[in-house]
Amino acid sequence: MSDKVLVAYGSKHGMTGEIAERIGKVIRDAGFAVDVSPAGTAKSPADYRAVILGSGVYAGMWRRQAAKYLRTHEAELAKKPVWLFSSGPTGSGDLEKLLGGWSFPGGLRAVAERIKPRGTVVFRGAFDEAKAGFFEKWIMKKVKAEYGDFRDWPVIEAWAQEIATTLKVI
Ligand SMILES: Cc1cc2nc3c(=O)[nH]c(=O)nc-3n(C[C@H](O)[C@H](O)[C@H](O)COP(=O)(O)O)c2cc1C
Repeated sequence: MSDKVLVAYGSKHGMTGEIAERIGKVIRDAGFAVDVSPAGTAKSPADYRAVILGSGVYAGMWRRQAAKYLRTHEAELAKKPVWLFSSGPTGSGDLEKLLGGWSFPGGLRAVAERIKPRGTVVFRGAFDEAKAGFFEKWIMKKVKAEYGDFRDWPVIEAWAQEIATTLKVI
């Protein structure tokens, strides 16, 4: 096992990829070697000392490749420190209200419970109207979601910093 940390992500329009890059930068700046990679091409968790896995949320689900990574590598992930994040709600209103009770994809809850992540978090996301297809615009209107970039970088960086601090003592 190497001493590297993996940040793997599922992202359709790149917003979660940028969150993953920022998390990677904070952990790298804290002195760790880090790989940031789309979940579809990420190496096995066996190659890392810790894994941070996240995804953009679409209709309450993670992107397929991120969900697949979690399921496929359950046994390896259960052996090491793991943190999970979702990038979802667009809107500046109260996060709890925007989430409406959602905290993690229902279909992945059982596998996540077996992995026992050290942390699971939901970050506000971003959605660019110019990138939206017809169907996506229809959904966004239906769920009354706002367009724009609501990613809260200080919150994301603080979460990553906490991970780096933990990694130094375990
Ligand atoms: C069709 C569609 C459905 C979405 N469904 C949800 C959802 O169920 N819950 C949520 O919090 N955000 C939802 N979002 C917002 C996205 O998760 C958010 O824009 C995210 O940051 C996108 O990340 P990505 O660019 O990495 O794919 C949805 C966005 C679209 C376009």
